[in-house]
Amino acid sequence: MDPVAESLDLLAARCGDPAPLVYATLFARHPEAAAHFLMDPGGHVRGQMLAVALEALLDGGARLAGLVAIERLNHVNIGVPEALFDGFLPLLRDVVRDALGEAWTPAMEAGWAARIAAVAG
Ligand code: HEM
Repeated sequence: MDPVAESLDLLAARCGDPAPLVYATLFARHPEAAAHFLMDPGGHVRGQMLAVALEALLDGGARLAGLVAIERLNHVNIGVPEALFDGFLPLLRDVVRDALGEAWTPAMEAGWAARIAAVAG
């Protein structure tokens, strides 16, 4: 099994919906990011954005790179700085790694690093 998928399965088994954890981490690291979601009190956009990102992550590097290339422009247009945008996948990786603790493996580390590198390329 793809170690990235495995890590996300384990996260879901341990924490259920990862969205609250992911956005709590995003807003803790980047308080200014919260302002972009003021129009989303019910969290629909947040849930949708994470679902799309996770689906692309599971599909693999090429699909993910395509999504990120398109979304980078969309996000620049709504005022999300590129550095913040680019930090989102590493942040996701950190959330999963922290939640998994001892269950995090070197294969997961390598798998996530490859996905993140595919996006940067
Ligand atoms: C890999 C990085 C990211 C990807 C792939 C991504 C993807 C997406 C997608 C697919 C949507 C549309 C969701 C929908 O259908 O409702 C969206 C919306 C949004 N994203 Fe992201 N996103 C990323 C990072 C970020 C970051 C770091 C922020 C921080 C501020 C952010 C802020 C937003 C906001 C505010 C919207 C709503 C835009 C609107 O409806 O006007 N995104 N994102």
